[in-house]
Amino acid sequence: MESRNQTLISEFLLLGLPIESKQQNLFYVLFLLMYLTTFLGNLVIIILIFLDSHLHTPMYLFLSNLSFSDLCFSSVTIPKLLQNMQSQDSSIPYAGCLAQMYFFLLFADLESFLLVAMAYDRYVAICFPLHYTTIMSPQLCLSLVALSWGLTMFISLLHTLLMARLSFCMGNVIPHFFCDMSALLRLACSDIQINEMVIFILGGLVIIVPFLLIFTSYVRIVSSILKVPSARGIRKAFSTCGSHLSVVSLFYGTIIGLYLCPSADNSTVKEIVMAVMYTMVTPMLNPFIYSLRNRDMKGALGRVFSKRIIHFALGQ
Ligand SMILES: *[C@@H]1O[C@H](CO)[C@@H](O)[C@H](O)[C@H]1NC(C)=O
Repeated sequence: MESRNQTLISEFLLLGLPIESKQQNLFYVLFLLMYLTTFLGNLVIIILIFLDSHLHTPMYLFLSNLSFSDLCFSSVTIPKLLQNMQSQDSSIPYAGCLAQMYFFLLFADLESFLLVAMAYDRYVAICFPLHYTTIMSPQLCLSLVALSWGLTMFISLLHTLLMARLSFCMGNVIPHFFCDMSALLRLACSDIQINEMVIFILGGLVIIVPFLLIFTSYVRIVSSILKVPSARGIRKAFSTCGSHLSVVSLFYGTIIGLYLCPSADNSTVKEIVMAVMYTMVTPMLNPFIYSLRNRDMKGALGRVFSKRIIHFALGQ
């Protein structure tokens, strides 16, 4: 494509959400409350798991990592959105935009890989309960977490570098509330074939492969329960896998809704609504899914707090 007026873009404008200005304040308060809930909810989980030694098991260490990832993921987009809604100045510098894209991909992919590690942990717990502690050794857990970080850092760096080589000449207005990769690609006037190919291949690696691995581990879990069906076994499986399965359904439900549902005529609005769903709602719900229905977490909350209160009361 000819690019005559190839000017270097120094900043982008984020159009934000398609909200009428009358309702701007209402949504501002709503998003602020959701962000604070996400931040505090996930922070409480990380602190509880750190402080309570009963929770130093692979499942809770992975959960703590997941909460960290959720906390960072929502902090990549929401504070900037809130700032833009408040200040009416919606610009973001070019480097800031690429940084936002990098961290957005980093924590989204990290969540996907951590869900696989957690599914594997549940699979071992149900199918090999007697060898659980030897299989899920601290070394293996650490390796799984390190592998997740390594892969996700490589993938998001690759996407970001490929984006950085593009020149943008279709204006600098992004019809979204953060620097979304596909919204940015629509503004590019260079050849984006490589970008699209990498998105296609790595997208498969990050979405389809984890999905298949999680699916396989649940097929194994269900078949091992059905081999010796007992009310106790089923209850145990539900109580240990229920939370993970809920989080997985929420994660993939949003992705499926985004990519597989027939696109309405107003696809930008649909994309933005789905983006609100996965940047705000999913990270907010994860801590509640894990803590509300979980006896260990409630016990830890009691232990950690009563210990602190006693220390405080004795003046230690
Ligand atoms: C993440 O998981 C690893 C391995 O289990 C653990 O050592 C580490 O403390 C966890 N990190 C956080 C922030 O929870």
